[in-house]
Amino acid sequence: MGPSGRRIKNGARLAMHLCGCQSPAPFQEDDRMPHTPSPQTFRPAGPLRGSIAVPGDKSISHRALILGAMAVGETRVSGLLEGEDVLASAAALRAMGADITRDDDGTWHVHGVGVGGLLQPASAIDCGNSGTSARLLMGLVASHGITVSFTGDASLSKRPMGRVIDPLSLMGASFTASPGANGTQCFPLMLEGAHPAVPITYRLPMPSAQVKSAVLLAGLNTPGITTVIEPVPTRDHSERMLRGFGAQLDITQEDRARIIRLTGQPELQPQDLTVPGDPSSAAFFMVAATLVEGSDLTIRNVGMNPTRAGLVGVLRAMGADIEELEPREVGGEPVADLRVRHAALKGIEVDPAVVPSMVDEFPVLFVAAALAEGTTVTRGLDELRVKESDRLATMAAALEAVGIRVEESEDGLTIHGTGGEPLRGTANARIKTHLDHRIAMSMAVAGLASRDGVEVDDVAPIATSFPRFESMLSAVTPRPA
Ligand code: S3P
Repeated sequence: MGPSGRRIKNGARLAMHLCGCQSPAPFQEDDRMPHTPSPQTFRPAGPLRGSIAVPGDKSISHRALILGAMAVGETRVSGLLEGEDVLASAAALRAMGADITRDDDGTWHVHGVGVGGLLQPASAIDCGNSGTSARLLMGLVASHGITVSFTGDASLSKRPMGRVIDPLSLMGASFTASPGANGTQCFPLMLEGAHPAVPITYRLPMPSAQVKSAVLLAGLNTPGITTVIEPVPTRDHSERMLRGFGAQLDITQEDRARIIRLTGQPELQPQDLTVPGDPSSAAFFMVAATLVEGSDLTIRNVGMNPTRAGLVGVLRAMGADIEELEPREVGGEPVADLRVRHAALKGIEVDPAVVPSMVDEFPVLFVAAALAEGTTVTRGLDELRVKESDRLATMAAALEAVGIRVEESEDGLTIHGTGGEPLRGTANARIKTHLDHRIAMSMAVAGLASRDGVEVDDVAPIATSFPRFESMLSAVTPRPA
């Protein structure tokens, strides 16, 4: 039995003790199928050409389902990302009373229970690999008078939950979490919601949209005004969508900090939503088309929210040729088509101030840096150590395995690029992805720009955020017969 199996067993005892449940046990070892890794080799390929549309934005998709579940009436969502992470949120919301269905044409229908209407789920909520499901749903549950057990896969069970436990405890919720490394509080855990919860003013100790959103979602069913202070602004999809559903949200700016005040217990109005394409998924194609000679690729319908679009500016500063076409608005979010043509890159020092606007794009930026001329220096990336994997350590090892010289510091990587020469490739090694979808996709891009190909140990996690990644990549990189 693996470490996560052991933790689930401990969690079962802990949860039964807390709620006096006998059957069904909130955590059961048999609930989870063992994960079978799926290795794959990504080989050098010809130019990326044509036009693609990447799937819906993951962050916005989670929020569309969650706020739809908090409205009374029917919310319709088109363009929803149908990746495993978002489906985990859908299953959780169904288990707590929302009615969520999908039409054959891909439109999703959410019949919400209203703010305060969540029901006690019959069994544990399994968030799989999804930190966003975990933290946002914990926030939502924290101000309902229900008790919920949360579980996740081996990657999620290592990630710190103290960052949401702290503010939600101040609001009155109680938690029994599993002990993680270095005194962290981890999944599986048991959450007893507070009803009524207490409104708080919370200054985010780290730049995290998940923590911000957890507090705001808890604030929905809390009387009075819940305030979040963000010293460093992060993605603002929750704020945009809360307003769209009719919540009263006042946002002010003091110096760089954003102060967000939510008035509790609104009646949310169901919406018709269209989810724009995910810039974090587009990132792999932006870098691939930049690196592979002769490429000319248009990526349609890419979310360009300034709190998410940092990679475009950084790649341009390195010399990339990215043209923004037809800027427009979709579902309250800025969107554009991006035409990306091959260009030679040069190494730069990346300004730490841009980190929150491209926090998920660093693994693939590191691949771009590996093919640039000169050295790329990154700092301020402490948060990358607590993503689906420790992305600094994982990417340093991955790039070394394909022949790149990398120096790892506490909070960043320094990468010495090849100046456009193909990467060597993995030869007899396999890249360890540690259940991290973005590492797998980044190293797939590295494979296209390699001499011998890059073998990754497991592509299965790609389905958490980008189910058709591999077929889309094959479609735009036809290989010679
Ligand atoms: C997300 C916020 C980010 C990001 C994650 C999605 C969200 O996490 O890495 O993929 O949807 O709010 P943090 O809040 O931990 O930075």
